[in-house]
Amino acid sequence: MKTPKFLLPVATAGVLALTLSACGGGGGGTTAGSDAEQGLDGRGPITYVQGKDNSNVVRPLIEKWNAAHPDEKVTFKEQTDQADQQHDDLVQNFQAKNANYDVVSVDVVWTAEFAAKGWLQPLKDKMALDTSAMLKPTVESASYKGTLYAAPQNSDGGILYYRKDLVPTAPKTWDEMMGMCTIAEENGIGCFAGQYAKYEGLTVNTSEAINSAGGAVLDAEGKPNLNTPEAKEGLENLASAYADGSIPKEAITFQEEQGRQAFQDGKLLFHRNWPYVYNLAVTEGSSKVKDVLGMTALPGKDGPGASTLGGHSAGMSVYSKNKATALDFLKFLTSEETQKFYATQGSLAPVLGALYDDQELVTKLPYLPVLKTSIENAEPRPVTPFYPAVTKAIQENAYSAIKGEKSVDAALSDMQKSIESASAGQ
Ligand code: GLC
Repeated sequence: MKTPKFLLPVATAGVLALTLSACGGGGGGTTAGSDAEQGLDGRGPITYVQGKDNSNVVRPLIEKWNAAHPDEKVTFKEQTDQADQQHDDLVQNFQAKNANYDVVSVDVVWTAEFAAKGWLQPLKDKMALDTSAMLKPTVESASYKGTLYAAPQNSDGGILYYRKDLVPTAPKTWDEMMGMCTIAEENGIGCFAGQYAKYEGLTVNTSEAINSAGGAVLDAEGKPNLNTPEAKEGLENLASAYADGSIPKEAITFQEEQGRQAFQDGKLLFHRNWPYVYNLAVTEGSSKVKDVLGMTALPGKDGPGASTLGGHSAGMSVYSKNKATALDFLKFLTSEETQKFYATQGSLAPVLGALYDDQELVTKLPYLPVLKTSIENAEPRPVTPFYPAVTKAIQENAYSAIKGEKSVDAALSDMQKSIESASAGQ
């Protein structure tokens, strides 16, 4: 498991003013401090906010909680299935100091931004949560500047799903996989797709392509490092596969759900997605891949590639009035029982390390070893309160390069420059 790289400030006076004004002032100053001191003993009804419950796990969990806590009931506010919309909805509600967004699902890449703005209750002192049994990267991605700001809830690692009936041996490298595209052609289906719409998922897929080719978005010092032959090879892999049709044209509109649908409908030979797909692909009545579903590590240059670390944590809003209830709810979400439920019902990646070696669970869930490897080799995305600008720089340039509207070289050099300006204000 990799240590997260904090995006380091670039001391460039010219862009400093720009980035500071873009960050909107505010910050985690004194107001946030006093909000964080309110409501600590409060008990009563709370709301839990999360993106679309694709895996049908949230409702049963909340029913179970509500049956045991009639005076502290949780209401589920379900957002859309799109990562960027979820983010913007949370930002708007935090800005409005909405006391009814008590507990919210925080994507690992939003922790730094939300914590720096002073929106998340630090989970320390009276609000402390024991994280000792949790996978280290999940705790790190729920922390900012050494303080835990959310309870790790589900981890996420990229997986290569493939058609076992058509692919005799799973490919280990990108070139091997591309070499198998003739099988897709013979069967009249698309070869490979991940998520290439212009949103957070494209940052995930671009980083994976770069890391899997031996490059890195940030170097060991936390500086953007995109003008390298490895980064070029990574982005070039996506761009040329799109140009020659190995990645079908419609994939440029894919977020997770559209890709899953295409794969489940039997339209793709290989598909990059998260673990939640397993459960739906084997249980949904309409799935055409139920009995032929293969799962392996993402392909790399000379062997398995590197996934981008995904996942979500449950954060408590500083504006919540019922923080004692909220804390109990966080403990419930991270309990062994709930974590097992997430795994068995939704094929979501547990945050408790021991569950990956739990024999009973491993017998039930054949994908667990693949998932463990994926998470162990996963690379975090840049950690910075200016993440929205960083991800935008990656998405926009990768999108243009994949569509062939910008050369890969120009896209990478623009990405480099924009990430430098985004980090200048830190
Ligand atoms: C998944 C991941 C999350 C990522 C998102 C992108 O939800 O868990 O980390 O940002 O996909 O769409």
